Amino acid sequence: MSEDWTGRVLELEVGDVAHGGHCVARVEGRVVFVRHALPGERVRAEVTDDRGKSFCRADAVEILEGSVDRVEPPCPMSGPGLCGGCDWQHASMPAQRALKARVVAEQLERLAGLSWPVEVESFDEREPGLRWRSRVRFVTGADGRPGLRAHRSHDVVALDDCPITMAGAAEAGLSRTARPGTEFEVTEDSRHTVHVAEIRPGGRPKQLQGGLAVEQAAERTWRVDAHGFWQVHPAAATTFAEVVAQWADAPAGGRVWDLYAGAGLFASVLAGQVGGEGSVVAIESGRRAVRDGQSTLADLPQVQWHCGRVDRVLSTVESAADVVVLDPPRKGAGGAVVETIAAAGPARVVYVACDPAALARDVATFHGHGYRLRDLRAFDAFPMTHHVECIALLEPTDTP
Ligand SMILES: C[S@@+](CC[C@H](N)C(=O)[O-])C[C@H]1O[C@@H](n2cnc3c(N)ncnc32)[C@H](O)[C@@H]1O
Repeated sequence: MSEDWTGRVLELEVGDVAHGGHCVARVEGRVVFVRHALPGERVRAEVTDDRGKSFCRADAVEILEGSVDRVEPPCPMSGPGLCGGCDWQHASMPAQRALKARVVAEQLERLAGLSWPVEVESFDEREPGLRWRSRVRFVTGADGRPGLRAHRSHDVVALDDCPITMAGAAEAGLSRTARPGTEFEVTEDSRHTVHVAEIRPGGRPKQLQGGLAVEQAAERTWRVDAHGFWQVHPAAATTFAEVVAQWADAPAGGRVWDLYAGAGLFASVLAGQVGGEGSVVAIESGRRAVRDGQSTLADLPQVQWHCGRVDRVLSTVESAADVVVLDPPRKGAGGAVVETIAAAGPARVVYVACDPAALARDVATFHGHGYRLRDLRAFDAFPMTHHVECIALLEPTDTP
C-alpha cells in the first residue's frame, strides 16, 4: 500500500483535460486529476482524495504560471473547497467550449476508435454563460441555510446567489431556511413562473409553489410536471428539436420511434414529418411525462404512447422503423437496445446524448451492428460546468 498523499501540496505541470471537469497531471509515476486548473498551467495543488489507487485528486490552490484562457470566476463561491456546482468558472467561454470539444473527441477516440473533429457550439451570442439554469436542487446545510454541495462531498456550501441559475429560481430557492438536509427543487419555466418543491430527508416531495410548468418549445406550448425532465437551458429544447428534425428527415407516412421520449418534444416534430398517415412510437418510462405528452400532443393522434422501459416495450412493438430517435439518460442506451434499433433497419438514427462517454460506447456498439457515425454536433448546454450535449447521426455503413 502506497503512502496516503491526502493533504500533500504538489507542484504540477498541468496536462490535458479529462472527462469530469478536471485536467491530468503526472507526478512520481502517479496520475493526479486536478480541478481549478487549465492545461499548460504550472500550479501548486493540494491532494484532496487519495484512496491508494493509481490516481489521486487535487485542487489547484496557487497558480504559478497561468493560462491565457484563465479568467476571474464570475461566481465568488467557485474555487477550491467551495461550491461544487461548476467546474470551469475560471476558463473563458471559448476556452470552456474548446475543453469540452477535446473531451468529446477523446471519448470517441478512446471508446469508439473514431478520430472525429468536434466543435462545441454556444447557444448564447452574448456569451456570459450565466442565468441559464432553469432547474436546480438546492440543499440545506447544518446552519439551516440552503446552498449546493462541495465537490464530491456531502458538505453544503451556503449560497446567497447562484449566478448560473435563472434569477427567479435562485431567489426562490436560496431565500428559505429549513431543517438540515431538506432539499428544494426549483424550476423557472418559459414564462418565468417559479415552482418549488420541498423534499425533507426521507420524506415525500411537498409542492410549495406552482407545480405545472409552461414551456415554449418547437413552436408549441407544453404543460409539464415542473419537476419532471425538461431541458435545463432555455434555448436547448427548441435547438435540439430543430437538429433532430433536420437529421431525422422522416418520410411522409413513415414509421418512426422516439425512445426515452419524455413529454414528446422530439415526437412532436417527427409527427409533423410523418403526417397523419404515419406513426411515431413514443416510449417513456415516466407515467407523469407520458400523461403530459398525451395531453400536449392530443392533436397528433399519429403519436402512439407506450409507458414503460425501452428495452421491454421494444420487444412488443413492430420490429421495423424508418427512423429512430433516442435520448437516453446518462448511462446511455446499452448493447441490447442498440442491437434492437439496428435490427429494425432504420435509414437514420439520431442519438441525443448528455454523456459523451455513454454516446461513444453506444456508437461503438452501433458500429458492430452495421451503423456508422455520419455527423455530430455538440452544444454548450451547461456553461461553467463540464457537461456537454451531443447529437449524433448514424446511418447504415453501406449508405453512400
Ligand atoms: C434525457 S431525458 C429525454 C426526454 C426527451 N427526449 C426530451 O428531450 O425532453 C430521458 C428520459 O428517459 C426516461 N427514461 C429513463 N430510463 C428509461 C427507460 N429505461 N425506458 C424508458 N424511458 C426511460 C426518463 O424518464 C426521461 O424522461
